Amino acid sequence: MRKKIVAGNWKMNNDISEGLKLASEVVNMAADEISSDVTMVLITPYIHLKSVSDLLKGSENVFLGSQNCHEQESGAFTGEISAAMLKSVGTQYVVLGHSERREYFEESDEVLAAKTDIVLKHEMTPIFCCGESLDIRENADPYAYVKQQITNSLFHLPEEEILKVVIAYEPIWAIGTGKTASKEQAQEMHASLREHIAGKYGATVANEISILYGGSAKPSNAPELFACEDVDGGLIGGASLKSRDFIDIAKSF
Ligand code: PGA
Repeated sequence: MRKKIVAGNWKMNNDISEGLKLASEVVNMAADEISSDVTMVLITPYIHLKSVSDLLKGSENVFLGSQNCHEQESGAFTGEISAAMLKSVGTQYVVLGHSERREYFEESDEVLAAKTDIVLKHEMTPIFCCGESLDIRENADPYAYVKQQITNSLFHLPEEEILKVVIAYEPIWAIGTGKTASKEQAQEMHASLREHIAGKYGATVANEISILYGGSAKPSNAPELFACEDVDGGLIGGASLKSRDFIDIAKSF
């Protein structure tokens, strides 16, 4: 059975006291309201990780995630954070290749392949983001484009390693825009990605990999998105900054 996951990407929001307040609200509400088969992840800025990690001790269904990680083990990379550092504070998930990182920090498919390797080496779960721009959606083949992102960054992995990866399909035109993919658009892309993975690794492996949807997901549209056969949850930006909305999304399965 594929894992159901609702992950909240805080991006560059919340100072430490706001972050701790939000995290503790989510932990308390999740304990009362979220069924044990749903995994929730708080993807915080680096500076919050240790404090939120301490706060999550004892929580059974809320886990800790980072928004990025450097691809090298250690060394002279001023301003960067390594996988070992993330692991040492209790990080369990690492978002890789978010479209904002691809666009503003020029992260390439090749760098993301290396980041995936180091996150897996340190026994954390990559949440690998992929997705097409509006231009590609309207004027090219979005399915081919997103499949190529997956081929380039993930298909070097052996079967037992790709099984540990979570994929997040995030159409760039839907991120932070209020414009959500329709349930048909989401399902069609998710099914096509699963088929692509099956082509390389077989249907059994493809059926085990959770594929999340991201892009203006909110309590009002999460139920129809999560009801799609190949949508296993969501990567939530804006709506994860409000505990009530984030919890309501996690109740939408
Ligand atoms: P959004 O962001 O929910 O605010 O659209 C999603 C994301 O960037 O992960």
